[in-house]
Amino acid sequence: MEPGRLSINALVTAYSRAYHSTHDSPKIFNDALAGRMLAEEERSLLEQALAGLIKVVNPNLASTGPDQATALACVIQNQNGPITLSRSRYAEDCLERAVKRRVRQYVILGAGLDTFAYRRRDLLKRIQVFEIDHPDAQDSKLRRLARLGSGFPPQLHFLPMDFAKQSLIDVLWRSSYNPQEPTYFSWLGGTYYLTREVVFTTLRAIARMAPLGGTVVFDYVDQDAFSAERSAGRMRVMQAIASEAGEPMQASFSPRDLPRELQMLGLCLQEDLGPAEIEQRYFRGRKDAYHAFEHVHFASASVMNRKPR
Ligand SMILES: C[S@@+](CC[C@H](N)C(=O)[O-])C[C@H]1O[C@@H](n2cnc3c(N)ncnc32)[C@H](O)[C@@H]1O
Repeated sequence: MEPGRLSINALVTAYSRAYHSTHDSPKIFNDALAGRMLAEEERSLLEQALAGLIKVVNPNLASTGPDQATALACVIQNQNGPITLSRSRYAEDCLERAVKRRVRQYVILGAGLDTFAYRRRDLLKRIQVFEIDHPDAQDSKLRRLARLGSGFPPQLHFLPMDFAKQSLIDVLWRSSYNPQEPTYFSWLGGTYYLTREVVFTTLRAIARMAPLGGTVVFDYVDQDAFSAERSAGRMRVMQAIASEAGEPMQASFSPRDLPRELQMLGLCLQEDLGPAEIEQRYFRGRKDAYHAFEHVHFASASVMNRKPR
């Protein structure tokens, strides 16, 4: 990530949500505020850059010289949109159920340009929201929100943190987060870009800081994602784009080992959706090009009784 800047990945995920909200139907996840988080000039630069990716996403279509709108639709629907839209839908569906079960705090790790607190004012009546992100990314978001003039809901708390250098326990401890309150954590698009060690340290901190039954939802890629023989073409494209942007993908996890690895951290895996299940749940019957992304999983884990040391 460049110092003082929002991560490119966070910009692209926000753009994908904005694009879907205005161009596609039916909606997988409708973030009607995502577009407002992007400045006009930034949006047009992003559109040019994303449309230019057609050369790697679909060389056949690229060779026909498509216009920018056609190239952009192909890149968003095939490459950038599917993971972002379906994981946000998964996380917020799980959150709604958790709030019905009395969850009172929502911690969004690596929040990027997430608009939850502004989109779901109805839920803010019942929960406190803590957005955690890299200090540079959060700075950029705060400036965007100030420019929009939409104010800052009192239930929304911003906690800057570098996962690779700071402890989540310390950061939450110093905030108004209440470790006794039922809490739901989401971590979307975060585990890919960190080391396994940093991911496990963060998950262990959640297990320590949330009371029994607290939940964490996160997405991850399986170990085949990095195998030259077994990885899918668009996963390789995703890795190449991420490296080119200076935010390389690093961590992968084995769905077979994950339950045991989480248990050692004090978490019990409740659900692990693989690509086939994600396709069934969020993409079935669509007439456009959106499909579940190979190698990507959505996991939900709950905090166990025994606290890790
Ligand atoms: C792919 S973006 C996802 C953003 C958002 N969750 C979404 O789904 O649109 C990854 C997020 O992780 C954050 N991030 C990356 N490395 C980080 C680090 N070392 N410490 C804190 N946040 C980090 C970035 O700032 C960015 O907001």
